[in-house]
Amino acid sequence: MIIALDGPAAAGKGTLARRLAEAFNLAYLDTGSLYRATGVATLRAGGDPAKESDAVKSAQTLDMSVFSPSDLRTEQAGVAASQVAAIPGVRAALLDFQRNFAKNPPGGAAGAILDGRDVGTVICPDAPVKIFVIANFDTRVARRVNELREKGENIIEARIRADMEARDARDSDRSVAPLKPAADAFKLDTSNLTADEAFAQAKAHVISKLKTLNESVPPRAAKPE
Ligand code: DC
Repeated sequence: MIIALDGPAAAGKGTLARRLAEAFNLAYLDTGSLYRATGVATLRAGGDPAKESDAVKSAQTLDMSVFSPSDLRTEQAGVAASQVAAIPGVRAALLDFQRNFAKNPPGGAAGAILDGRDVGTVICPDAPVKIFVIANFDTRVARRVNELREKGENIIEARIRADMEARDARDSDRSVAPLKPAADAFKLDTSNLTADEAFAQAKAHVISKLKTLNESVPPRAAKPE
């Protein structure tokens, strides 16, 4: 059982992925954290995240254990991530780890859910369930601003808006694994949905998709919440 959950920055993927993981007893991998860690590692080494040799070296020697979640969730980490993510050698270096996680989920989980940009198109093109989450630009900016302010980052909204515009363009226009929905993805627009509503719609889709595919729904999903 693999769920591929893709979409642009701040569309609500992370919250949704964690809740689906809990509901269906799946191991969760935030694939963006690998790109963020590669970007931060490059900066820490005094390198340039946009420079191929610097970024590829960081990806090939990546040690996730040296980063705390707060190291990776800054705006600076997000910008560096989108720069390293456009480099084919970086994507190649991170591919096996992601596929292996999906195939052999840790902790005895019933399967895996991976969120990112290219999970349904490149990492797990055969995933039985694919969801592509979208939200309009202003909503995504507002969510990212709130997220960063809640973490105590001193940010300027206009700067976040400009960064997000640049990141959207880089994620969508790059030649390797650009952000796009898989042809068989369920598209979920969360612009006007609460987190609970988005979760309810995604969960209903997973259950109906699994029924269609004649696969059993993992037991935890059947329990009342
Ligand atoms: O989802 P996020 O904001 O943590 O992602 C950070 C950056 O990493 C984003 O700009 C694009 C890149 N990324 C990617 O190219 N492919 C993925 N599977 C996940 C993230």
